[in-house]
Amino acid sequence: MRSLLVTGGAGFIGSHLVGRLLKEDEKVIVIDNFDDYYDPKIKRDNIKQYLHNRNFELREVDLRDPEELRGVFQSDKIAKVIHLAARAGVRPSLKNPLLYEEVNIKGTLNLLEVCKDYPVENFIFASSSSVYGTVSTPFVEDENLNKPTSFYAATKQAGELICHTYHYLYSIPTTCLRLFTVYGPRQRPEMAIHKFTRLIDEGREITIFGNGHSKRDYTYISDIIDGIMRVLHKKFDYEVFNLGGSQPIELRELVALIESGLGKKARMRYLPDQPGDLPITFADLTKSRKVLGYNPRIGIKEGIRRFIEWHRSKP
Ligand SMILES: NC(=O)c1ccc[n+]([C@@H]2O[C@H](COP(=O)([O-])OP(=O)(O)OC[C@H]3O[C@@H](n4cnc5c(N)ncnc54)[C@H](O)[C@@H]3O)[C@@H](O)[C@H]2O)c1
Repeated sequence: MRSLLVTGGAGFIGSHLVGRLLKEDEKVIVIDNFDDYYDPKIKRDNIKQYLHNRNFELREVDLRDPEELRGVFQSDKIAKVIHLAARAGVRPSLKNPLLYEEVNIKGTLNLLEVCKDYPVENFIFASSSSVYGTVSTPFVEDENLNKPTSFYAATKQAGELICHTYHYLYSIPTTCLRLFTVYGPRQRPEMAIHKFTRLIDEGREITIFGNGHSKRDYTYISDIIDGIMRVLHKKFDYEVFNLGGSQPIELRELVALIESGLGKKARMRYLPDQPGDLPITFADLTKSRKVLGYNPRIGIKEGIRRFIEWHRSKP
């Protein structure tokens, strides 16, 4: 049986995708190095439920090790790759650009070098809304992009360029998905919704960078997984799609929703804008709707309600 390879499959998005693939009776191999960007125990917990599934296999491999990566393709027949492993997050990329370059750029190159020798039917790359920088909204896929505002964004844009090059030279069928601020159960603990919910619930102060008017296009995890599944079931030469919610809201509005969901008031401290942060992200979904049939279903109010329910159910 041919396998699907999910890199970063122990992370937030990856672990949800793995769950969905196993439900569809796919054989799934996860590559993850359980890095310390956030507590690796959280990642182990994310995938604990799959460890006894006979269709699931975990390989503790680092993308930066080309030989280990090659070993995975030598021992198993890989039909499709969903490449989610990365150093995520804009702000930490300013502190450690070389690490972002190693994991996000060299890691992607290492993976594609192997795919060149072991052809796959589909290579999906997790890109980011951050590649749009400060272009006008809503963000459309064919926008000419060359002004990233953070190293993270630059590495994701480089990833897209590298994907295109391998597609062009070696005919690897490739799709780059520009994901817009994903949230839901198991969201990375440092991301705004998760962090604010935890701190407000504990009566601790939250920090708002800027005046609270910056806007994000928050996208619920099940909608993102639905978008990825739609791509997996199709075959493209090379395409780029936005996967967003397409209903951006202000940071202050987000805090108000969390406050009302928790029934607690936030204590807020305002600090200046952070370098690299964007004033707004906003996905144009015309292409994703038309070509993929993608249609995000969970609005922010329902999404926050579900997130708080998950937060409260944690041990
Ligand atoms: N969460 C979002 O809002 C969002 C938005 C846009 C794009 N993305 C992209 O989606 C992908 C998944 O994001 P996430 O939020 O699930 O992040 P995450 O940090 O929870 O998951 C990434 C996983 O990759 C693994 N990893 C990191 N470096 C690795 C390496 N060198 N070798 C092997 N594994 C490694 C980590 O251990 C982690 O389990 C990332 O590529 C991210 O850039 C996420």
